[in-house]
Amino acid sequence: MESETATMEVERDQHTSPPCETTTVPIVDLSDLDDELVARAVVKASEEWGAFQVVNHGIPTELLRRLQEVGRQFFELPAEEKEAVAKLPDVDCLEGYDSIHSKRLESWNSHLLHKIWPPSCIDYRFWPKNPPDYREVNEEYARQVKKLTEKIMGCLSKGLGLGHDALNEGIGGDAAEYTIRINYYPPTSDEIIGAPAHTDFTSMALLVPNEVPGLQVFKGNSWFDVENVDSGIVVLIGDQIMRMSNGRYKNVLHRATMDKEKTRMSWPVLVDPKRGLVVGPLPELIGDDNPPKFESLTFEDYIHRKINMLLHDG
Ligand code: SIN
Ligand code: FE2
Repeated sequence: MESETATMEVERDQHTSPPCETTTVPIVDLSDLDDELVARAVVKASEEWGAFQVVNHGIPTELLRRLQEVGRQFFELPAEEKEAVAKLPDVDCLEGYDSIHSKRLESWNSHLLHKIWPPSCIDYRFWPKNPPDYREVNEEYARQVKKLTEKIMGCLSKGLGLGHDALNEGIGGDAAEYTIRINYYPPTSDEIIGAPAHTDFTSMALLVPNEVPGLQVFKGNSWFDVENVDSGIVVLIGDQIMRMSNGRYKNVLHRATMDKEKTRMSWPVLVDPKRGLVVGPLPELIGDDNPPKFESLTFEDYIHRKINMLLHDG
């Protein structure tokens, strides 16, 4: 079965849309999530953009710095050391180190992908042994990013008029599967893109960028740069939150460009529903005045259908 990598294959008019500078991707200070205005800002950004950045989110800056450092150190290892955690050829499992070059989409990127939660899903074969603190840092980050995800989902659930846990329970609660994908985009003078325009199959992605800009999100008719904000984490609403909210929250179309001089890296964590769980519009939202806009499906079936659709469209 394919998964997130296939999201890279969605092709839209990524090179043609005019830039628009009138507004910017919202930045939300999460210091006080009990504040009605903060909660409202998260909800509004998810309805209008499907993307926002959070600051004062509770994840220590020092941990973010260490996460970036161990990821960078891994990508700077000699090729044969990186190959020690290579993706296995000809299997459906996407975990491991891999490079994807698509001539059709003129894209190129190299990445390391592995599950970080729940512990029962972790396969340490795909976690680098070098640098030595890679495991400790990623395990701590997993705990922290799960807490932050649940806070944000709680806010979005309440924005739908539901209890705090509604969306998180909708993806399996503690059994939801968290995957980190460390993207590495070296400098290039070629006119290629790092990640072609796509929406994420997942429920939500929380992304830590390095200092080199490149992430862009689509709204209205235009692409917007996601600004570099100190210790900020970018939240991208994916297909499953859009489906669970029956279309209230937007699955954001986004892409990543490559820099001509500097290496760009990013650390998205993808929050996937528990395998086998049927996901669709939350029943509490549905009624005569709000009929379901989406079919309820397991995540696996959803992925198969979307990939088939993309292949036939493309
Ligand atoms: C992605 O969403 O696939 C990558 C985004 C990024 O590198 O910023
Ligand atoms: Fe993405």
